Amino acid sequence: MFEPVLDKLKEARKIVFVTGAGMSQESGIPTFRGKNGLWRNYDPMKIATIDAFYENPKLVWEWYEDRRRNIVAAQPNPGHNAIAKLERYKEVVVLTQNIDGLHQRAGSTKVLELHGSIIRIKCTVCSFQDYVVSSFDVLPPICKCGKILRPDVVWFGEPLPQDVWTEAIAYANSCDVMIIAGTSLLVSPANTLPLYAKQNNALLIEINPEDTMMSVDMNLTIRETCSNIIPKLTEIFSKLN
Ligand code: APR
Repeated sequence: MFEPVLDKLKEARKIVFVTGAGMSQESGIPTFRGKNGLWRNYDPMKIATIDAFYENPKLVWEWYEDRRRNIVAAQPNPGHNAIAKLERYKEVVVLTQNIDGLHQRAGSTKVLELHGSIIRIKCTVCSFQDYVVSSFDVLPPICKCGKILRPDVVWFGEPLPQDVWTEAIAYANSCDVMIIAGTSLLVSPANTLPLYAKQNNALLIEINPEDTMMSVDMNLTIRETCSNIIPKLTEIFSKLN
């Protein structure tokens, strides 16, 4: 299936992955817009907002605690592992919308978390920040300064961390191959990253069982899951080297 692009793969020096919830779906972490997307009959799209948090911080925290428990117990899948292994053969950067840390746990060394991390918390007011994998006894948890703590993630209506985003654009602008895996590309600004790569004449490959809005812009679309295909891709690179 990679036959038409083998020459480009061979020449490539810098490979950038843009990953989304579909990347971790085979680790047992539900996607946002897929089937069974509801949590206690709530739409996650309505919970992951700054307004929802200030309206009902306890409810939003309960959702994050459920997700955090699931994520901490999950393991990287063959897709994550294959991306980490690819570093043996190429310069690899992962630009992920996922907050689960599974790329890092698989061993990827250059991961930019565009939407933050579920195991990091921060104060809504002061500069306190910490890493926490255990559950909180009382929700919402309170900072030493007396204000509410929150997960250090990017909610709808919030900007991406500026330094991370600037670096992500620089990688997208300068890569030879961009592999867009497991994302619906419905959320801005992450969904503009393929456009930066395209401007640089990078080869664009999409791995997703379903069509996305940008499938027509891809050089190659593979209608398969991440854990089925990415190990094959890494295998190809190992032989091209
Ligand atoms: N392998 C590859 N792709 C998959 C798999 C899989 N095993 N399973 C599902 N997919 C695809 C779906 O077809 C869908 O296109 O993954 C995509 C998941 O899309 P979303 O649920 O919209 O997730 P994502 O694109 O990461 O959402 C972006 O939205 O809610 C916010 O901040 C949240 O980071 C998230 C952002």
